[in-house]
Amino acid sequence: MVFRVGIIGAGAMGRGITQLLATAGQQVWLYDTRAEAIDQALAFNRELLERSVAKGRISAEDLGATLERMQPAFSLSELAHCDLLIEAIVENLEVKQALFVELEGLVSPSAILATNTSSLSVTRIASACRHPERVAGFHFFNPVPLMKLVEVVRGERTDPAVIVRLVELAERTGHFPAITPDTPGFLVNHAGRAYATEAQRLLGEGIASAQQIDRILRDGPGFPMGPFELADLTGLDVSHAVMESIHEQYYQDPRYTPSNLAAQRVAGKLLGRKSGEGYYRYDEGKPRRDPEPVLEPVVLDRPYWLDSDDPELRAHLRQLLAQAGAELESGSAPSLAAICLITPLGEDASSMIHRQGLPPKRTLALETFCDFDRRRVLMRQPALEPAVLNQARQALSVDGVPVEVINDSPGFVSQRIIACIVNLGCEIAQKRIADPHTLDRAIPLALGYPKGPLAFGEHYGAPRILEILHNMQACYGGEPRYRPSPWLRRRVQLGLPLTTAEE
Ligand code: NAI
Repeated sequence: MVFRVGIIGAGAMGRGITQLLATAGQQVWLYDTRAEAIDQALAFNRELLERSVAKGRISAEDLGATLERMQPAFSLSELAHCDLLIEAIVENLEVKQALFVELEGLVSPSAILATNTSSLSVTRIASACRHPERVAGFHFFNPVPLMKLVEVVRGERTDPAVIVRLVELAERTGHFPAITPDTPGFLVNHAGRAYATEAQRLLGEGIASAQQIDRILRDGPGFPMGPFELADLTGLDVSHAVMESIHEQYYQDPRYTPSNLAAQRVAGKLLGRKSGEGYYRYDEGKPRRDPEPVLEPVVLDRPYWLDSDDPELRAHLRQLLAQAGAELESGSAPSLAAICLITPLGEDASSMIHRQGLPPKRTLALETFCDFDRRRVLMRQPALEPAVLNQARQALSVDGVPVEVINDSPGFVSQRIIACIVNLGCEIAQKRIADPHTLDRAIPLALGYPKGPLAFGEHYGAPRILEILHNMQACYGGEPRYRPSPWLRRRVQLGLPLTTAEE
């Protein structure tokens, strides 16, 4: 069935939704209070589609038919015959409510009213309507034709039949419809909190610089963009407002506590690319990256001791050290000369040194949680002798793999970020905000993560994720920010995959 779709708001989102739906065979009318915005949007879409013809992606015939399906509407009443109305106007509750009230007076009783809001409650928008059951969220991402996901948001009173129709329409466009109830941040903006918020905390505690954190997360777990590059791209004003709003709406749950440093940077207008400076400085839109440090060569004259029994890791490290002319000891305790490498999970180096009675001056931590051969991470602690660090850093970079040195942190950088992403994903599943399949499909599509939150947990091992969280929580004096989700704990206790759904 073909929808007659009225789209209200011809900005970045409205014009993208218009293009997507018209390309998928729907008849679309586009309205905006500013007539010039309609002209600009339709001209923009025409140009994009013409380029697709030039590249051979669509035929000239399809172009003509698609353009025919995108029509301007010069008043709201011209949308009276539409059976689906999608608003993409200014993000303001009262203005959106007033629009829906006006539309209800124009359209047929069976018409669906959908909102593209990214942060307002669908239920609250619908509460102004005589028929809130016809109202749902239909939340696209920018740029709409390329971001192959749409959240189909079920308000408290939305009729299930409305959801079914929106899902069918989304599928016809080739987008993945993620059905989700009306909760703060819906699915994607909620799940995305862990990455940015935990990275800000690492920075705030002086564990590593923004550029180090970005490099570690790109090269270790394989994120396409570091959290600070991403914040600069989105604009810190936008991303910090989302963090504050979700924290507020979940009644100050410490999982979502934003960083005071980010608030200061917003006040200082260090917003990112759009203001020319954020976490990076920009020259003609390109971030200035610090060169990686060049090391002064030192004499390597000490053996190494490793706390791990993992044969693969030991063999790899032994071979690496041999290349640097150093030896890996095989005794169960370190010799008096040895540089001690420890491999904590969720614990900081200081706690592990204390617990195991290791010599603080010559013990440092090595990250072995994710890819070891693209970038290595060494974690020092306040008692470490600089000469020991210099030797270890040189020995571990002998094969040309860069070595990052960070300060003591429960969970290094990658363990900590991944554990928070998995834990939040588990909370989302626990709260029935998304079923496991929807969650793991939606997040890579919307946020570009190499895996969905639950798939990350399976990849790195759910028991290890749980251990990281327990240890981080203990290191931070029992802080509830790191409390493991019951969804995660139960599946580990029962030996089930994290993707195991429940009624
Ligand atoms: P925009 O500022 O580019 O466009 C909004 C358009 O709505 C403007 O052309 C304006 O003239 C028009 N407008 C404002 N009030 C109106 C009214 N009462 N009646 C008719 N037209 C009206 O905004 P954008 O970025 O397209 O966002 C629109 C909506 O989509 C907002 O609710 C926003 O939160 C949401 N959204 C935005 C995303 C983004 O990345 N820009 C992503 C997902 C959702």
